[in-house]
Amino acid sequence: MANPSILILAGDGIGPEVMAEVKKIIGWMGDKRGIRFDVSEDLVGGCAYDAHGTPLTDATMAKAQAADAVLLGAVGGPKYDKLDFSVKPERGLLRLRKEMDLYSNLRPAQCFDALADFSSLKRDVVAGLDIVIVRELTSGVYFGEPRGIFKEGNERVGINTQRYTESEIARVARSAFELARKRSNKVCSMEKANVMESGILWRDVVQEIHDREYPDVELSHMYADNGAMQLVRWPKQFDVIVTDNLFGDVLSDCAAMLTGSLGMLPSASLGAPMANGRPKALYEPVHGSAPDIAGQGKANPIACILSFAMALRYSFDLGQEATRVEKAVEKVLADGVRTADLMGPEGGTPVSTTQMGDAVLAALDASL
Ligand code: NAD
Ligand code: IPM
Ligand code: MN
Repeated sequence: MANPSILILAGDGIGPEVMAEVKKIIGWMGDKRGIRFDVSEDLVGGCAYDAHGTPLTDATMAKAQAADAVLLGAVGGPKYDKLDFSVKPERGLLRLRKEMDLYSNLRPAQCFDALADFSSLKRDVVAGLDIVIVRELTSGVYFGEPRGIFKEGNERVGINTQRYTESEIARVARSAFELARKRSNKVCSMEKANVMESGILWRDVVQEIHDREYPDVELSHMYADNGAMQLVRWPKQFDVIVTDNLFGDVLSDCAAMLTGSLGMLPSASLGAPMANGRPKALYEPVHGSAPDIAGQGKANPIACILSFAMALRYSFDLGQEATRVEKAVEKVLADGVRTADLMGPEGGTPVSTTQMGDAVLAALDASL
């Protein structure tokens, strides 16, 4: 039987730097565990624009559709800021999400013990934290029509439209309830039903799906602005949070600081099951291309490494190997290995991206 396939799209900025460390771990899985993948690589984002004049070619899109899993680094950067909107690097990523129909974006925020003092919040607020934000990823204001910049009289007007259908809300709600059943059985849904009709529909549909299909799961509703406040006030009140595309984007960056650094947050973007029963899937760190540190060997590769762990779990049914990678990361952090973003007030000497990857490999070796 053919090996399962992975398409790597490392992208721009620190994307290729953090992905290089993931490639080492993929190699390790083959060498030490006999778990082999057919890995191919292609371009997305600014680098694809430089090579082909588009942030995602049709050929790359087709490869992504055919792969068992896609791993993505990051896209974007100041070099591309002035490009026409239609060919901006971010459009490549949005096209992947839309055409692969990756509607359920799992963004876990877990505070490793060793980092409980590195968050900008107090230790007891974050220690032991383990929550997941389920972000709707293929609809809402990111994709709604009408959109654009138009002339209205003497001035320009910028328009985006928040639009959700019942079925779009229902499917992401189901994915949050399913996840909650495997965890602490608790979902908090966030919208702004007080000011948005799409928020009213969101709240209604989530409640209906709950009452009909998941009455055993504890469900609460919260306005998203209060949700942002509650996330920094007492995040441990949450288990699974389900929310729309834009609120999910903002709330997940916010949740990142509960873990110590944006460089720690992985994500899985999941769609409908493929013929092999596994979901169509793309895995990527929550962070971007970090132009301020790109090319300096400073980036923390852990978010990308943990995203690969999520791929092992969700796309390849290798939960034990996923846990092995997560435990290796935990050990490295417990040993005090830190990239620059994880330097606490007491300082110390940070390791490079490569050294962090090597430390994780050593911890994986030690796990055998
Ligand atoms: P960013 O996430 O790239 O960076 C925000 C801050 O966090 C920066 O100070 C950066 O140095 C730091 N940071 C991020 N990842 C880090 C890591 N792994 N290790 C250490 N520090 C890290 O967000 P931004 O600066 O707002 O955006 C930069 C570019 O990235 C933009 O073009 C944006 O559109 C793009 N972006 C892409 C993605 C993606 O590809 N999924 C996500 C977010 C932003
Ligand atoms: C993210 C990013 C993306 C988003 C951008 C780069 C399109 O911020 O994945 O969080 O807004 O969804
Ligand atoms: Mn974001």
